[in-house]
Amino acid sequence: MSRLKTSKKRAAKSAALAMAAFTLGAMGLQAQESPGFVNTLMPQPAHLSAGSGELDLSTGFTTVTDKSHDERLDAAISRALMRLKNKTGLEIATMPAATGTGTLTITVDGPGEAIQSLDENEDYSLEVSSNAVHLKATTDVGAMHGLETLLQLVQPGKSGYFLPAVTINDSPRFRWRGLMIDVSRHFEPVSVIERNLDAMAEVKLNVFHWHLTDDQGVRIESKVFPKLTSMGSDGLYYTQDQAREVIEYARARGIRVVPEFDIPGHTNAWFPGYPELASADGPFHVMRNFGVNDPVMDPTKESTYKFLDKFIGEMAALFPDPYMHIGGDENNGKEWASNPKIQEFMKAHNLQGTAALQTYFNQKLGPILKKHNKIMIGWDEIYAPGLQKDAVIHSWRGFDSLAATAKDGYRGILSAGYYLDQIDSAGKHYLVDPVPADTTLTPEQSANILGGEATIWGEHVGPLTIDSRTWPRTAAIAERLWSPQNVRDVDDMYRRLWVESLRLEQLGLTHISHQDVALRQLAGTPHTAPLQVLASIMQPVQFHIRYQLQHTDQVTPLDHFIDAIRPDPPSQHELPLLVKQYLSKQGGTEAGEDLEVLFEQWISATPEAEQLIANSPLLAEVQPRAQQMGELGTTGLQALDYLKKGKTAPADWVQSRLAMLDDAKKPAGLVRFTVLDPIKELVEAAGGQK
Ligand code: ACM
Repeated sequence: MSRLKTSKKRAAKSAALAMAAFTLGAMGLQAQESPGFVNTLMPQPAHLSAGSGELDLSTGFTTVTDKSHDERLDAAISRALMRLKNKTGLEIATMPAATGTGTLTITVDGPGEAIQSLDENEDYSLEVSSNAVHLKATTDVGAMHGLETLLQLVQPGKSGYFLPAVTINDSPRFRWRGLMIDVSRHFEPVSVIERNLDAMAEVKLNVFHWHLTDDQGVRIESKVFPKLTSMGSDGLYYTQDQAREVIEYARARGIRVVPEFDIPGHTNAWFPGYPELASADGPFHVMRNFGVNDPVMDPTKESTYKFLDKFIGEMAALFPDPYMHIGGDENNGKEWASNPKIQEFMKAHNLQGTAALQTYFNQKLGPILKKHNKIMIGWDEIYAPGLQKDAVIHSWRGFDSLAATAKDGYRGILSAGYYLDQIDSAGKHYLVDPVPADTTLTPEQSANILGGEATIWGEHVGPLTIDSRTWPRTAAIAERLWSPQNVRDVDDMYRRLWVESLRLEQLGLTHISHQDVALRQLAGTPHTAPLQVLASIMQPVQFHIRYQLQHTDQVTPLDHFIDAIRPDPPSQHELPLLVKQYLSKQGGTEAGEDLEVLFEQWISATPEAEQLIANSPLLAEVQPRAQQMGELGTTGLQALDYLKKGKTAPADWVQSRLAMLDDAKKPAGLVRFTVLDPIKELVEAAGGQK
């Protein structure tokens, strides 16, 4: 791993460089004298062998499709070649030819399915030699995956960009590899959705799960029931034309679109327009608060099913995917229990408890979905005796439920462990496996597990912040779902993740740049370098802590320091590595010098950061954090000094530093440090405790 290449002597001058390194992660690909193949692929392919030699891209690059090609494939190739051109600065013809020979030959058997299904063939092979590239696939979708891999292979060399000689035979481990975006709590414009689809395609995800309705907003136009949006969306929704545009955009990238209409709970926003659907009396308004709310559809009225039949029919015609997600989660049953008519109905139908009533609802829903040629998918809660066998269970409450449903013959997908909004590390998500090596499932039962989905719930994200909460961590989950089970090296994943993060930025994602933008807005000045230093070692508190401390709801502004910074920034993974390297005395003095540069940088940024914070009322809440940054830097330097001199630090120093670290751990300003554990390690080592 390439880290800070600074020596102590250059420390002062190279503070900016050091900051850049920690802001962006390790340096990634750098031109080297004789680099050979540097594997930065994400996700890792199923089979890869590196050859010898390389294909020099500067000698001209042409592309031929020598078998099947259609408009979709031609467009995908052109987009890929445009990216190759932009990446390398080389003049590259961006239109493929259908005859003749080219540097890149693309052999595709056929376009694939008219409506991409779970069973779409996504395999491809890629053969790069010193004078030619051959990409082969059964379908357009496989070819598109191959093109993404090809772009990721491009490396800088001393004499220009090149493709290393490799042979890749690739196919996905799981068929369902998704990203769910909740657009109800906060609406995301089409442009945001489309750039996220670009990012999904880059890492070979193939399902966009669009959480379109919830208590806080109905986000899809219904021509049959126009009051759903006129009274339930604050004017923020997708027209059907926009939805079609998104579906087409996704299809062009090999991605299915599975819409979710969350029923019977999480339906408050349906009721301002259609109060007759509700189980309690109105009046109803779009809800601002989050969490599990009481409003729920009335499952005892036939009129509810008539409504749903028409609505689902309309949506079934709009969304071509055979699967429709009906949510089904977090119905607390309170309004069913407190409504005498509903209670009477339950008695008359011998329904014991509100869960049984929800099963009744799902059983009524089954034929409606079937009539409109849709297969039901729903969250864990739909799993109950009597559920139709073709339903897919989407597991969010825990890992065990996925295995239990798979054992029971149901197909399932996993999202427990992939909740991006919880603000966990990429490394933690990465190790969550829908079918772990020690699974107790038989191969037949394992085959019921279709894959998984990363989920970005919308409570705490808006158009400016969603990319930073979604990427690059989703790339780690995408690798888990695509690559072989034994690809599990967290350090190697992070090494490639920082490279992937830059590739995503090149695609137009704002997960890195938004931090600069947001800090400028917060500080009211373009000179935000000291705040960037602070941001580089902080991350948002976890979801539930923000929710509790800030009492967030839909109208809470998402413009605090917490919104400017990113989950799991490079410092969280890189500093422990550096400290480990230093304490184990690997690699001479370099790790110690790198640490000194960083600590000095924190110290020197502190007074200016404090000044900027003092000038901005919005930043006032992070004042203690700036001060703590300086203390952390000082503590780090002192610890290094003891260690360098081989002196044991006095016990009272150790104690006071550990107390300071404990203090820095406490929630303040809605943000937390990423670097406390490695500093603690240094302090303990200096005190002779390690
Ligand atoms: C969920 O998180 N309620 C599916």
